[in-house]
Amino acid sequence: MLMKLATSLLFLLLLTLNLAHAEHAKFLAFPEGFKWCVATSAHQIEGYNTESDWWDWEQIPGKIKNGETSGAACDHWNRVPQDTLLIKNLGVKQYRFSVEWAKIEPREGQWDFEAILHYQLEILALRAAGIEPMITLHHFTFPRWLREKGGWEWEGTPEAFAAYAEKVYTLIGALGVRDWITINEPMVHLVLGYLSGMEPPGYADIKKVAAPLRGMLLSHAAAYRRLHRLAQENGRDIRVGVAHHLRVFDPHSKINPLDRYLAAKFDEIFNWGFDEPLTTGRMKIKIPFTIHVDERLPGIVGTQDFIGVNYYTRDIIKFALKKPLPAEMLVKEGAATTDVGWEIYPKGFYRMLRAVAERHPGVPIVITENGTADSRDAFRGEFLKDHLAQLHRAIHEGIPVEGYCHWSLMDNFEWIYGFEPRFGLYSVDYATQKRTLRESGRLYQQISRENGFWR
Ligand code: GAL
Repeated sequence: MLMKLATSLLFLLLLTLNLAHAEHAKFLAFPEGFKWCVATSAHQIEGYNTESDWWDWEQIPGKIKNGETSGAACDHWNRVPQDTLLIKNLGVKQYRFSVEWAKIEPREGQWDFEAILHYQLEILALRAAGIEPMITLHHFTFPRWLREKGGWEWEGTPEAFAAYAEKVYTLIGALGVRDWITINEPMVHLVLGYLSGMEPPGYADIKKVAAPLRGMLLSHAAAYRRLHRLAQENGRDIRVGVAHHLRVFDPHSKINPLDRYLAAKFDEIFNWGFDEPLTTGRMKIKIPFTIHVDERLPGIVGTQDFIGVNYYTRDIIKFALKKPLPAEMLVKEGAATTDVGWEIYPKGFYRMLRAVAERHPGVPIVITENGTADSRDAFRGEFLKDHLAQLHRAIHEGIPVEGYCHWSLMDNFEWIYGFEPRFGLYSVDYATQKRTLRESGRLYQQISRENGFWR
């Protein structure tokens, strides 16, 4: 009797809990026409980018984890039709990818029409599948010849970049590309290539960052103007922006003025060091006793039609006298982290979107990257939902986010980490090049098809 009563009570309790949950479960609907999207970059998936500076970098022993090189990567160059079907299968509306400058212009002024034809076919395949292409012109890599001339430091680079943008626009983009990214994550590129020396060109001198930053700003603006002039000439509507990598920088101690000062400095320089000059026309980097740059640059203001946001994580900043800058970047104690040790911090997504909206009221925002390294697909699904819930909150509060590109369509060559980190909605078996949709990929498919999810 007692047993029966206990079972009934337990049953009732479970029912109430379940009902309470059901009552609270809400469908987070995204605005009509919201653009679900997936992202990749050429060097990371295509294979054999042999005329590029990254190819050379990978051959230097010790530069890439486990001595790996990009090699055939995901062999995407030979699998565009099949991979386009994988994108279509996810139900997304847009695909963000980069075209490879080193393949299109392998030697100065020499255009490779086979490579151009290849990208034309890629655009046509995407359009035939009903997927809108978004093109990135520079995603970390340079043609070797341009690197040898000095990369972003060479004064001829802005014109060379605009000429390359023009070729891509007239021969590839005119087949139906509306959204353009000039440069992917300029500040990441600057930090890893010119400050830590971990990526090409491998410099590590903070005093020398002004030249490449100036070069990137002028090149971006030159390409922006060129693309718009061409589009205007043939009556097309295009939008050009930058994919900014935004991270939350929080002080280790909220009451330590040095931690607070340094966290604010990291935010100012890393998050807004490229964006601010495009708003004010002035390139400024000021770190006491270290670097002082304040320079007016012509023609760069107002060259973002939308703000591209790549969001992944947060860093905790602590004053440390013995370190350069002098600060330490830490991971929040006790926080959940990804396979590459980055804190999983969904709320930061919302915080960064608020920050963008405050700086650029009313300007459209596109999430150009967000995702996680998770080889076992153990937490990517939750990561996705937690981040999308924060994005939904931002949109609900009126922040004009128009689309979300998940990084990445499939596992790929993750730069200095080699092939180990797995960011894909599809896993890739590199021995056979077989792609398999992960459980989290199925979830993303459902979210994009239903334009929202239950929470
Ligand atoms: C971004 C970068 C991508 C990809 C991703 C994951 O910073 O744009 O190329 O590597 O991070 O780490």
